[in-house]
Amino acid sequence: MLALGDLIALDYPQINMADPDNICSVIHQFQPTLVINATAYTDVDKAEINPKLAMAINGTGPGILGEEVKRIGGALIHYSTDYVFDGTKGKPYNEEDEPNPINVYGETKLAGEKAVQDIGGAYLIFRTSWVYSLRRPCFVTKVLQWARERETLRIVDDQISTPTWARTLAETTAQIIAKSKGNPVNYIDDNSGLYHLSEAGFCSRFEWAKMIVELDPKKENRIVKEIVPAKSTDFLSPAKRPYFSVLDKQNFINRFHLIPPHWSKQVMPLSLNQK
Ligand SMILES: NC(=O)c1ccc[n+]([C@@H]2O[C@H](COP(=O)([O-])OP(=O)(O)OC[C@H]3O[C@@H](n4cnc5c(N)ncnc54)[C@H](OP(=O)(O)O)[C@@H]3O)[C@@H](O)[C@H]2O)c1
Repeated sequence: MLALGDLIALDYPQINMADPDNICSVIHQFQPTLVINATAYTDVDKAEINPKLAMAINGTGPGILGEEVKRIGGALIHYSTDYVFDGTKGKPYNEEDEPNPINVYGETKLAGEKAVQDIGGAYLIFRTSWVYSLRRPCFVTKVLQWARERETLRIVDDQISTPTWARTLAETTAQIIAKSKGNPVNYIDDNSGLYHLSEAGFCSRFEWAKMIVELDPKKENRIVKEIVPAKSTDFLSPAKRPYFSVLDKQNFINRFHLIPPHWSKQVMPLSLNQK
């Protein structure tokens, strides 16, 4: 348990990020000192056919939220994505690099970042990458499921980024709030801005899948015999994905004096079946 004050956790439909009036009335009702917005329309392929809803939740909603939070004198922590980049730079992206999303999800998340930045006030935006946990459907849960259903897995080796355990993000966020010594609004106001925050190092989805299968907490259920590298173009998917979207965390480290752990150490909890 973290001694950071009272916590109110809301999910859809207690708050609907696609409904501006609802966002305003929830903020009015709870009058929070600090809002952490981890909501998003995250289905990258479905966003291609549902761009209006994705834009409402990822692009417009965060702006309304930021405005309301600022109006009541609070602070906002918001998460964004490496998918705002096109993945062609060939080395890690820093915060000064120009975003150039290549899918609807990335476009809508970039719009959300801009909306929060335009409103200003006390805000932190953390761009992160390849978030996973065993609690929610994600690449890790998919690979574990495929390993129980198929003898051969074909996984792309041309998409490269950094897996980031959801707990790392949650704990890092809590550590930042703790640094505020009970005054998160002032602390966040002093450090307002957009930062890259993922775990350290990087890998391809192919390398990550191999590690996930090795660490499968229920090895007895596996039928997979081989994992074969493939290319993104081998699969027909509605949305394009960036090839190399690793984030450079140096600004985050310099500002908050916290060191993100290496992704390959953090997947260890999988073998312990921690969530
Ligand atoms: N997953 C990744 O690889 C990744 C990578 C980079 C950045 N991010 C960012 O990290 C943050 C967290 O992502 P995640 O991976 O935890 O996503 P997630 O598992 O899909 O969680 C998103 C949450 O948003 C909620 N939500 C969806 N529509 C909503 C609405 N209209 N109103 C209110 N809540 C709504 C979902 O509710 P339900 O439970 O009802 O669906 C869910 O709880 C997001 O900002 C995402 O863009 C994720």
